[in-house]
Amino acid sequence: MTSLPGPTGSGFLAPRKGRSIGSAAESRRVLVTVVHEEGIIYTVNMLILNKTAGVFSKPSKRNMYEFLRSFNFHPGKLFLHKLVLGIETSCDDTAAAVVDETGNVLGEAIHSQTEVHLKTGGIIPPVAQQLHRENIQRIVQEALSASKVSPSELSAIATTIKPGLALSLGVGLSFSLQLVDQLKKPFIPIHHMEAHALTIRLTNKVEFPFLVLLISGGHCLLALVRGVSDFLLLGKSLDIAPGDMLDKVARRLSLIKHPECSTMSGGKAIEHLAKQGNKLHFDFKPPMQHAKNCDFSFSGLHHIIDKMIMQKEKEEGIEKGQILSSAADIAAAVQHTVACHIAKRTHRAILFCKQRDLLCQSNAVLVVSGGVASNLHIRKALEIVTDATQCTLLCPPPRLCTDNGVMIAWNGVERLRAGLGILHSTEGIRYEPKCPLGADISKEVGEAAIKVPRLKMNI
Ligand code: KG4
Ligand code: ZN
Repeated sequence: MTSLPGPTGSGFLAPRKGRSIGSAAESRRVLVTVVHEEGIIYTVNMLILNKTAGVFSKPSKRNMYEFLRSFNFHPGKLFLHKLVLGIETSCDDTAAAVVDETGNVLGEAIHSQTEVHLKTGGIIPPVAQQLHRENIQRIVQEALSASKVSPSELSAIATTIKPGLALSLGVGLSFSLQLVDQLKKPFIPIHHMEAHALTIRLTNKVEFPFLVLLISGGHCLLALVRGVSDFLLLGKSLDIAPGDMLDKVARRLSLIKHPECSTMSGGKAIEHLAKQGNKLHFDFKPPMQHAKNCDFSFSGLHHIIDKMIMQKEKEEGIEKGQILSSAADIAAAVQHTVACHIAKRTHRAILFCKQRDLLCQSNAVLVVSGGVASNLHIRKALEIVTDATQCTLLCPPPRLCTDNGVMIAWNGVERLRAGLGILHSTEGIRYEPKCPLGADISKEVGEAAIKVPRLKMNI
């Protein structure tokens, strides 16, 4: 057991007055909430006449069950509310949210460690762990308080257990398991990438199957989403993720010292500066141009950019750590090259899916998510691809593209609705720092060797 501040004490789990099993009278209506088997919550809006109100005004738990049984009760959308608390600590954000089964975000809270990690020039896992420990209880409490849901009303607790930084995942998991044990609630272990991929179904009406591109600081993959937990992996980065590369380049360019970029993540700083630069001043080639698969690579490009920066420092006669006069041009060229690489691999994935009839013929959907998906230049490049292939491009709003608690809670709702991976015992649950997403068919994709037509990336 860790030295994590436990969820016990300070009234954390005390049900808030009049909200657990009980009633809230509202003129002639009584809103009664009953927690049923499996933690499912039935909220019944009972119309009562004043003269007979005494019968139901203070229903006992037993009376309520009998009362509900006396109805030919069909738990339809109007009456059935599943409420899931989602907890995320896989990397450098401590996040929690309460979401209901219709996708309403009832409450959310997040503590970002970006500022701390910016100062140290990257995530130091024990530092991230300590910050998660310091913040998790407050963040969960804030999300619950904002939602006005008492812990006893939750249908389940969903927590990211894979993949991610071991020390960070451990904090969220041990906190959640304590909570689950105390509340006697089902536990839903969440795959972080699955959660990113399904977020779009909270904001848009998107049916399976759809294609998803996840691009962030820690991930880079293309997958076909066939169901809540049914994924085909078409391609992934063979080395680092695009966000990681943009962070490294931003650090090498010392953008933290740039007055307009000092509080921005590396990727955001590159996007910001790129607007002031000319991408044509540098000619970086997109990686893997001859590999006819959907894999990505950013390490080689990173190396070439590093060498270019060194050369420019020599030419401009400045020391490492000072900002180059050509920093904006480099940012623009880097961003464009990354966009072209991502667009090309995605184009091939769409063509592969179309060739194998894996996507909906009348409305093929490409979903793009992850921190890097908030980059508008990259989005425009992807738009050119989806226009050329008659696909619909969808992105969750920026706050749901980056790591958050809502996507974890929503994945819990999706799993609860599908009856998948709901655990009633916490025995033997472990976090997994490394865990692939779905069935890997990237070799088959490469063997198909699809030639991608050239598209003009006039962005
Ligand atoms: O999804 P996220 O919050 O965390 C994970 O990595 O899982 O993504 C953070 C990454 C960072 O590498 C950051 O530099 C990048 O997303 N990022 C961006 C932009 N905003 C954040 N990259 C490019 N353009 C942006 N506007
Ligand atoms: Zn993520």
